[in-house]
Amino acid sequence: MFSTRRILLAAAVAATLAPVAYAQSPIVIKFSHVVAADTPKGKAAEFFAKRAGELTKGKVKVEVFPNSQLYKDKEEMEALQLGSVQMLAPSLSKFAPLGVKEFEVFDLPYIFDNYPELHKVTQGALGKSLLAKLEPKGITGLAYWDNGFKSFSSNRPMHKPEDFKGLKMRIQSSKVLDAQMRALGVVPQVMAFSEVYQALQTGVVDGTENPHSNLYTQKMHEVQKHITVSDHGYLGYAVVVNKKFWDGLPADVRGQLDAAMAEATKVANDSARALNDEALAKVKATGKTEIYTPTAAERLALKKALVPVHKQMESRIGAETIQQIYKETDFDPAKL
Ligand code: LMR
Repeated sequence: MFSTRRILLAAAVAATLAPVAYAQSPIVIKFSHVVAADTPKGKAAEFFAKRAGELTKGKVKVEVFPNSQLYKDKEEMEALQLGSVQMLAPSLSKFAPLGVKEFEVFDLPYIFDNYPELHKVTQGALGKSLLAKLEPKGITGLAYWDNGFKSFSSNRPMHKPEDFKGLKMRIQSSKVLDAQMRALGVVPQVMAFSEVYQALQTGVVDGTENPHSNLYTQKMHEVQKHITVSDHGYLGYAVVVNKKFWDGLPADVRGQLDAAMAEATKVANDSARALNDEALAKVKATGKTEIYTPTAAERLALKKALVPVHKQMESRIGAETIQQIYKETDFDPAKL
């Protein structure tokens, strides 16, 4: 929608007019994201906006722009670094193009079995150290927000690993997701989230993977006949701000925003699972898409096909980071 040149120009004009953001009244935080308002991220962003206004007594106004209204995936990262937008919550799968490849550890298939295992990592030392890696990029990481575990979708039943062979599937911009798809014989195609529905509808790709809240709110089920509830990987977010903007805020205001963020994080992480379950129930109610839950044997076969991706991606993500997660979650690939 916006070219990099236009973003640069807008940033330059903004910098001339308002060298320090907090000289304006109220301080405006533009929070851009790519999903629908009625999703775990969309709802948490709205909640944060409300609480930020309340806790700062109107000194801060958070304007939320959902559904790629302002920027698409790649553009929003550039816009954040340039200061054209102050806050984002991109999926953890979208940080490698910034040069922080370690975030792709969250994409490793079947590395987390459930939310509590995942929270040990996001709320522990590793989660913190990953956010710290964003600082040299001019970005401050504030929190991790959940979405959920992904299902595969396409127009073909997908029960066994062989069933995936030859499908073309949209992925987020992550080399781990690329390797995951290739391990199933799928041809992966990186594409912005805003373009997925149309690509599925027109047959540019055959299928994709997403938590049910994303699938339902983008109406992907209308153009996908089959969903396999594989829970093969996690999709969640890092809430990030432009570092210069954040550091330039008065300390009391930053403290109030931190408090609003802590509350919003709890809302996001307490409600994500229920929202995804609701979305799946709504897809089921349409009666248009067949929803398949793999048997224990089929799940194991998928796991065996996908877990070798961990080893394959060691050199990209770092063996130590992967081992750290195995330790936290008691995972041992040798025991599969
Ligand atoms: C995707 O691109 O599929 C997701 O990252 C969208 C999102 O923000 O949940």
